[in-house]
Amino acid sequence: MRIDIITLFPDYFTAALKSSIIGRAQTKGVTDYEVHQLRDFALDRGTVDDTPYGGGPGMVLKVDVMDRAIKNISRLTEQKPYVILLTPQGQQLNQAICRELCRQQRLVIICGHYEGFDERIRAYADLEISIGPYVLTGGEPAALVLVDSVVRLLPGVTGDPQSSEEESHSLIDETGQSLLEYPQYTRPEEFDGRRVPDILLSGHHGAIKKWRLEQAKARTQKRLL
Ligand code: 6GU
Repeated sequence: MRIDIITLFPDYFTAALKSSIIGRAQTKGVTDYEVHQLRDFALDRGTVDDTPYGGGPGMVLKVDVMDRAIKNISRLTEQKPYVILLTPQGQQLNQAICRELCRQQRLVIICGHYEGFDERIRAYADLEISIGPYVLTGGEPAALVLVDSVVRLLPGVTGDPQSSEEESHSLIDETGQSLLEYPQYTRPEEFDGRRVPDILLSGHHGAIKKWRLEQAKARTQKRLL
């Protein structure tokens, strides 16, 4: 999967896209990340924003600059990209959206910034996404969340094909609802008076499986209500 990110803060991504599993996906050749400075697509002295028509505070990201950025970046490969605009007004990201997006060959991710962007920029987006019900200063942290949650689903990225299946939001109950992860433990058996549940030491695989499903259901009830 090729992922192009359009941002005013390319440095923000330097370490993150090289680190951990997301970074290894690139060295393995599963992903190709390209981060673009929006300012490079501005004509006059790198101006990317302007005052809003009708007055009011703040600056607005210019549509002509974004048009040039998206068109130039789209032309870098033959494949037409799927364009995502990150904004607090977007549809809230969830695991189902991540599973849909991981089927794309090419994503262009636009980070909104400053006080806002010209409404006409929305027309370039196939999807508008928010990562949650709170406001960030810009789309950059959201872009990293999106890249992480999508790239980890690509074949060959997590190594163990079972692990992404079994992790949070992928364990499924009888009705097809996705559940949170069950509690896990490793050595020591007792730490500071807190013991690993006996069932996990019992060796009864059927009983352990049942216990884990119950725990996952209980957690899901507790956390998602
Ligand atoms: Cl995508 N952008 C901003 N600025 N704030 C957010 C967000 C995105 N998602 C949640 N809050």
